[in-house]
Amino acid sequence: MIDLKDEFPLDRELIYLNHAAVGVWPKRTSDAIKTFAEENMRRGATHYPQWMKVERQLRNRLKWLLNAESSDDIALLKNTSEGLSLVAYGLDWQPGENIVSTNQEFPSNRIVWESLNSSGVELRLADISGDDPEGAMLDLVDERTRLLTVSSLQFGTGLKMDLARLGRACHERGIFFCVDAIQSLGSIQFDVQTIQADAVVADAHKWLLGPEGLALFYVSPEWRQRLKLHQYGWHMVERLGDFDANQWNPAISARRFEPGSPNMLGIHALNATLSLFQEIGMDEVERGVLNRSELLMTTIADNDHLELLTPNRKGRYGGIVTFRHRLLDDDGHADLYRKLMVADVICAHRAGGIRFSPHFYTDISKFEKLWHTVRALSL
Ligand SMILES: Cc1ncc(COP(=O)(O)O)c(C=O)c1O
Repeated sequence: MIDLKDEFPLDRELIYLNHAAVGVWPKRTSDAIKTFAEENMRRGATHYPQWMKVERQLRNRLKWLLNAESSDDIALLKNTSEGLSLVAYGLDWQPGENIVSTNQEFPSNRIVWESLNSSGVELRLADISGDDPEGAMLDLVDERTRLLTVSSLQFGTGLKMDLARLGRACHERGIFFCVDAIQSLGSIQFDVQTIQADAVVADAHKWLLGPEGLALFYVSPEWRQRLKLHQYGWHMVERLGDFDANQWNPAISARRFEPGSPNMLGIHALNATLSLFQEIGMDEVERGVLNRSELLMTTIADNDHLELLTPNRKGRYGGIVTFRHRLLDDDGHADLYRKLMVADVICAHRAGGIRFSPHFYTDISKFEKLWHTVRALSL
C-alpha cells in the first residue's frame, strides 16, 4: 500500500493546485535524481549500460501509458513544441491546404501552424465555446484539410475534447490527427489506439510529475516513415553505436527523431515517477483527479459570487477547474491571483479567471481552508 503522504511530502502550509502549469515531483523521483547525481559525481558514466536499461524501461512505461502498440512508436524529445514542430515541418504542404484547430489552444499548438502561413497553408480556428466543440471543428474541414490538431484538454477552460470522435472523423477523411496531450497524460486515462491519433506529444513536467525538458512523441508507424526529417546525428541511425560505418539509414523506430545524446537525467526522473503511476494504476489516478475537480466545482456552483468557466458535464472536464468572481474585473482577478500565491495557494491566472489544478494525491482536507482563503481575499 503506497502512503501518498510519504510520496508527496509537500510543505504543510502549501495548497498546491498548479499541475496544469508545472507539477510536483514525488519523493521517489527526487531520490532517483539525487542517486543519479551522486553516481555521476563518484563514478561518472561507468555504468552507462545500466542507464540505457533505465531508458528502455521508460520507453516501455510510456508505451503502457499511451497504450501504444510498441515502444518503437515513441521518441524522447525536449518538449511539446519540438514534437509539434517535427510534425508541422515533416509534412510536404501544398499551397491552399488547411489545418483545423481551435480558438482555445495554448500558443505551442498555434504558433507553429501559423508559421506555415508563408507556405500558403491556412490555419482555421473553430470556436469551441458551444455545446458541440468537435462539431465546430469538423464544420471547418473541407477537401483541402490536411491536418487537425487539438489539445486533449484545453489549458484555460479545462474543456476535455472527445478525441475518439475527432480521430474517427480524421481517419475516414485521410486527415492527419495531431494531439497535444500535455494537459491529460498523467491524470486522465489515454488510449492512442482508440483515438486513432497519428501523433501525440506531451512534456513531462505537468500531470506526469516529471522534469521539464523531456517530452514523449508518439508517431504512428505509417507516418513515422513519411515525416521528413530535419535533425540528424549519430543517435538517430538504425545501427546505433556502429561509429565506423560509412553508410547509414534513419532508425526504423521513432528514435529517428532523436539526433543526439539523450536527456539521461530527465529519463531517470520520469522513469521513477512512472513507476508510481504503474503501481497505483491510471484508473485510480483518474478517479482521484476527477473527484477533486468535482469537489471544487461543487463549491463553486454553491457560491453565488463565483462563476465556473470549466464545463461540468461528465466527460467534459479533467483536472482543470477555472472560475471567475462575479464582482471582480480582469485586474481584480490578476490581483486575486497574486494574493492567493502569497497566501501559499499555488494556482494560475488563466482564461481571465483563477485556475485550480489538483492531482490525485492532493489533500482534500485542505479545501476548507482553500475556500476560506479565496473568500477572504476576494472581498
Ligand atoms: C496545452 C499545452 N501545450 C503545451 C504546453 C507547453 O509546451 P512545451 O512542452 O513546449 O513547453 C502547455 C503549457 O502550459 C500547454 O498547456
